[in-house]
Amino acid sequence: MRQVTVPVLTIDGPSGAGKGTVSRLLAKKLGWHYLDSGSIYRSLAIALLKQSVALDDIPAIVEMARAMVLEFECGDDLAVKLNGEDITAQLGLEKTGIAASIIAVLPEVRAVLLQKQQDFKQAPGLVADGRDMGTVVFPDAAYKVFLTASSEKRAERRYKQLKEKGIDANLTGLTKDIEERDRRDRERATAPLSLANGALFIDSSDMTIDAVINQVLGLVQ
Ligand code: DC
Repeated sequence: MRQVTVPVLTIDGPSGAGKGTVSRLLAKKLGWHYLDSGSIYRSLAIALLKQSVALDDIPAIVEMARAMVLEFECGDDLAVKLNGEDITAQLGLEKTGIAASIIAVLPEVRAVLLQKQQDFKQAPGLVADGRDMGTVVFPDAAYKVFLTASSEKRAERRYKQLKEKGIDANLTGLTKDIEERDRRDRERATAPLSLANGALFIDSSDMTIDAVINQVLGLVQ
């Protein structure tokens, strides 16, 4: 039987660059599956915070990562269940993102989560959003993009998003958190955020979402 190759489009970049919105819309337009790999790290972070597991207790974190059962539902927004419990509302919290970034430096944790991410590669195709999609998780992906924006612009977007949700936020604090998170994601020894070989580099600071989507579609079609 002829082997069918499943096309993968990887979209890597720092937090707040617009990867989530762009990836979800692209998956919809292409009719492909969608992997929000950050939500896997975030879900694990939620599980750990719930059980008050210390974020440096590697054996306990690995155990939790192995045992957790995640269910994803990708409508207009992503809904996630952790061991049967809906955790969607906690996914976007700042404390969740910060904890996710702290445990993401641990190679043991990344190793356990690797297969869970690769399992998303299914016909007719996959849009995978994260930090190491094109470098580590799907190094053979047919299409690779690196999407970024200035830290000020990313903090502004995040500020707007939080305000729209009625969550209190402070722009200076958000910029500081984003820069700190960038530093941790770029400087970690295992699978740091970096430009994958052959990736299309897009700086979305002064671009609309539609312009970004059209540029990526030009690559895929
Ligand atoms: O994309 P995000 O903000 O939801 O990701 C949250 C954290 O998870 C991010 O700071 C680093 C980690 N992460 C990662 O290390 N590798 C990925 N592929 C995705 C996320």
